[in-house]
Amino acid sequence: MTEARPDLDLDEMVAELRPEFVGRLTAEGKLNAPEWRAAVEGVPRHECTPRFYVPSDAPGITTYVPFTRELVGTEPWLRRVYSDETLITQFDGRDLDWSDPQPIRGATPTSSSTMPSLVVQMLDALNADDGTTVTEYGTGTGYSTALMCHRLGAANVTSVETDPGVTARARDALDRCGYAPRLVVGNGLTGADRRVPAERTIATMGVRGIPWAWVRETEPGGLIVATLRGWLRSLGLVRLTVEDGRHATGRFIAADPAFMMARQQEAPRNFGMLPGDDAGKVRETPHGPGLLRMPDSGFVAQLAMPNARTFDMTADDGTVQTYVLDAANDSFAVLSRDGAGTGWKVREGGPVSLWAEVEHFLALWHAAGSPAATAFGMSVEPDCQRVWLDDPEDGPSWRLPVMPGA
Ligand SMILES: C[S@@+](CC[C@H](N)C(=O)[O-])C[C@H]1O[C@@H](n2cnc3c(N)ncnc32)[C@H](O)[C@@H]1O
Repeated sequence: MTEARPDLDLDEMVAELRPEFVGRLTAEGKLNAPEWRAAVEGVPRHECTPRFYVPSDAPGITTYVPFTRELVGTEPWLRRVYSDETLITQFDGRDLDWSDPQPIRGATPTSSSTMPSLVVQMLDALNADDGTTVTEYGTGTGYSTALMCHRLGAANVTSVETDPGVTARARDALDRCGYAPRLVVGNGLTGADRRVPAERTIATMGVRGIPWAWVRETEPGGLIVATLRGWLRSLGLVRLTVEDGRHATGRFIAADPAFMMARQQEAPRNFGMLPGDDAGKVRETPHGPGLLRMPDSGFVAQLAMPNARTFDMTADDGTVQTYVLDAANDSFAVLSRDGAGTGWKVREGGPVSLWAEVEHFLALWHAAGSPAATAFGMSVEPDCQRVWLDDPEDGPSWRLPVMPGA
């Protein structure tokens, strides 16, 4: 616990806490580039995050608690702002009532100020220089936009946000920070309506594939940095080079950054019809559902079943069954312990044998030495997106889903 110091005013506390924050990130090796360090030193994150929610330590379903200067006091609020944490500013796409903020449970975060070290990692991956032009998708609180304005000049920054209320608050925050970039309200999956392509494109929301508009609106030779997600899990951070306006290719540069998904691509709330107890064919399988939660095998399973979703359900006899459902083709796999309780069995049905697909790709991945996500790359063309292992032409590859509205 830090003792409150009411004698210090806000500016004095910020003058103390922000350099400390920069020092911590630097010491942890998370803020290496001097230009981005200067940006983090120069941008007042507290102007972008006057009010937010953070997860509490309470057990069970995550409970989020409100955090504002008025509620907790100036110093605790600023300490949270100048920490390497994601600060949540919206749930379920609805504006929050800050007149009487209450703890929130069972809701999905839909806007935030992303963890600064992740933002900086992505910005650094842009290989941007003085005056580089950039389009950002996912303005959120405006903090990452402000960092880019500091580094590249506000005239070179366009940022797109799908939510008008979020954009209005970001505009005010950026104004308080002293920046006036071009802000666009709209579905960024369809682009930023640029007349001239940007040299760099960055997305701070997860996408199921790279929207073709992002390739079209990035200069040939330019870079796209974005995180890919599926409905099972996050895939990773990719950096692609736009080859010639018709093709972009590149590699995963980090595994599993947890980004909220583009709103238009969120999984439908309804799982649809569940398979009946006697539907499908039962067989033994060497792989239990635990692989879905492991970092590397989970990555492969996400690629093998691009439209799948999963949940656990306790059967009448008390056994836990893991359902894997693909609503795009009505295929299913239900995993449970075998009779002896030592191995696994799967009951599969529908046109695609989902678990057989997972087994097939796991075997390929094992044969290649079970490499980490950074051994994978991806290629984007107007009508086809593929993730490949090792080599775009010769390695095994997986198609990403076609995305309506992108
Ligand atoms: C993680 S937050 C962005 C964090 C932000 N860059 C910051 O530093 O504060 C993701 C944002 O993406 C926005 N978003 C979701 N889908 C979008 C879309 N299709 N186009 C543009 N923005 C979108 C959300 O409303 C949310 O504000």
